This record gives sequence, structure tokens and C-alpha cells, in this order.
Amino acid sequence: MYRIAVIPGDGTGPEVIREGLKVLKKVGEVFKIDFEFKEFDHGGERYLKTGEVLPDKDLEELKTFDAIYLGAIGHPDVKPGILEKGILLKLRFELDQYINLRPVKLYPNVETPLAGKKPEDIDFVVIRENTEGLYAGIGGFLKKGTADEVAIQEMINTRKGVERCIRFAFEYTRKRNRAKTLTLCAKTNVLTYAHDLWDRVFREISKEYSDVKADYAHVDATTMWMVKNPEWFDVIVTPNMFGDIITDLGAMIQGGMGVAAGANINPGGVSMFEPIGGSAPKYTGKNIINPIASIAAVQMMLDFFGESQAAVSLEKAIIGTVGQLKSMSAGQMGYSTSEVAELVMELISS
Ligand code: IPM
Ligand code: MN
Repeated sequence: MYRIAVIPGDGTGPEVIREGLKVLKKVGEVFKIDFEFKEFDHGGERYLKTGEVLPDKDLEELKTFDAIYLGAIGHPDVKPGILEKGILLKLRFELDQYINLRPVKLYPNVETPLAGKKPEDIDFVVIRENTEGLYAGIGGFLKKGTADEVAIQEMINTRKGVERCIRFAFEYTRKRNRAKTLTLCAKTNVLTYAHDLWDRVFREISKEYSDVKADYAHVDATTMWMVKNPEWFDVIVTPNMFGDIITDLGAMIQGGMGVAAGANINPGGVSMFEPIGGSAPKYTGKNIINPIASIAAVQMMLDFFGESQAAVSLEKAIIGTVGQLKSMSAGQMGYSTSEVAELVMELISS
């Protein structure tokens, strides 16, 4: 029995989570896996009503679940940063979900903006460090609002944080067992302290993984190759901010935000699974948003639980479904949000 905390969140979050949960329940029936759910109402609406973002007692309760299933965080009437830092980043940090795993996989019959690229060319995984870097939230202002203003935002890289991320990435690359190539994506030619640490740790750990090819690419070159030669990548490991940026590019080449999912992983704790597209306020309540990303997040959760058969079956169902959609974009799928989930459910079999 798995206990799942559900945070539907803002915008289209609740719609895609509703469909993802239907799919998860169906998988549970077919594969005889029991789930128990508890919903939490954190997000923009609650904040606007009560001023509460993520109270400590809720945070403590969230720590007791087997996983968290999150919709989206971000509300047009709330100043940027409050909900993102107060809920999403707080959960990642407090639950020490130090890995952000983002597969970039083009499914058959899904359109990619990259001319001539096929599913076999776009199939890699980005492992983004998820608790440090520019996201650490350390900094401040001096003489704010004056002509002499100084704004400082520090980038934190700890030996421990870098090492556990890189180690996870080597293990992951080995287990994935494809091209067995791990590329460190950083900026060692400019960030000669912070990324020197990344580079040194990467080389050091690579000695323990002689079966994995250790490669390096600067982040700017990485974006170029993701567009020109995505087939060169197997697994990429990268600091937090670069990971944020290149995974939106990754989402685009795999067919868009409608299909891209991510996992915030603490291998020894509570992990969190989410579609990465955000709250998409303009599509809210219309039943036209693509729920595939949120269903793919369910697949990642099953995989993380070690429910491999269920995860494989769900991926097949996702592939079968996207093949029937006219487009991955909201309002252009040829089906409503709930109809897409129905298609997935029909294709799940043991
Ligand atoms: C993501 C998002 C978040 C991030 C935002 C909402 C804080 O863009 O999960 O990639 O920057 O990590
Ligand atoms: Mn992002």
C-alpha cells in the first residue's frame, strides 16, 4: 500500500492531476497495487484567502507519505516567487529532494520542431541538481531602490551536494544501460570556482565507473547540440539553474509542455512527481489542457516505487495514446483533457 499526498495546486494543475489520479487508480486495479490518497490545498487560492503558503505542520505531515503528486504552482494574482519559493522550492529543499530527473523522450507520432529528428534521436535524461546552486536563496539588497543599489544572489555548491548528485547520475547511467555516456553540463570556462568543483568531483567519481563514458559540454554548447544533435546525449548531469533552463528546451524537442514530466527525488526519503509545464492560467477550467505530462509523472512514480511492470504498461498506454492525438498542444489534441486520460486507461493491461 502506497500513501500518496496530492497537491493539485494552481491553474490547470487540478485538472491534470484529476486525470492522472484516475489513471493511477486504474493501474492499481489492473496490477493489484493499493494506494491511499490525501489531498492538500496549497497554492495561490489558499494563499490569497488565508495568507498561508506551506505551514510547518503540513510540511511535517507531508514527510510521512510515500510520495507527493504535484500539479502546478503559480498564480497570476500572486507576486512571482512567493508560491514558487514558499511551496515548490520549499518542498524540494526541506524534503532534500536533491535530484530532479527529467526524461527527454520523443514518442512515436509526436511532432518535434527539430527537422528530420526521430524518436531514436531524442531519448536522453537530464539529472538536475535540485537543492543548491543559484536556487539556494541566499543573498540580499543593499541600498534598495536607490541609484547605488546592490543586489546579490549567491550560488551555493557544496562538495556533499555536488558529489551525491554526480554519484546518482553515474549510477543512473549505468542502470539505464544505453549509450552509457554521462555528460557534465556546466560552464568551467567562466565559473572557475563553482564549476571547477563540479568538474573535479565528476572526474574523480568517474574513476569508479569505468563502464560509463564521462563527457563534458559547456551549457551554451549543450543547448546548441540539443537542437542540432540530440542523439549525442544519453544522460546529462547539471547544476540547478542550468538544469532548469535546458529542460524547458528538452520539453520543447520532445513535443512540448504537454508531455514533459519530472521527478524530484530523495532516494532515501519522500519524492515528488510533477508535470513540468506550470499552471497555464489561460487554459484553466476548459478541459483542453494535455494531461499526458501529468500521467507521465505517474509513470515515473510507479517506476520509482519499483513497480516496473505497471510503469512499463503505463508507458505503452501513453505511447498508444499520443499516437492518436492530433497535436500535443492544449485545445488542439482532437480530444478533451478527460478523453485523453480515457484513451490511456483503455490501453492499460497486465
Ligand atoms: C521547474 C520550474 C520551477 C523551477 C519554478 C516554478 C520555481 O520552472 O520546475 O522547472 O525553476 O525549478
Ligand atoms: Mn523550469
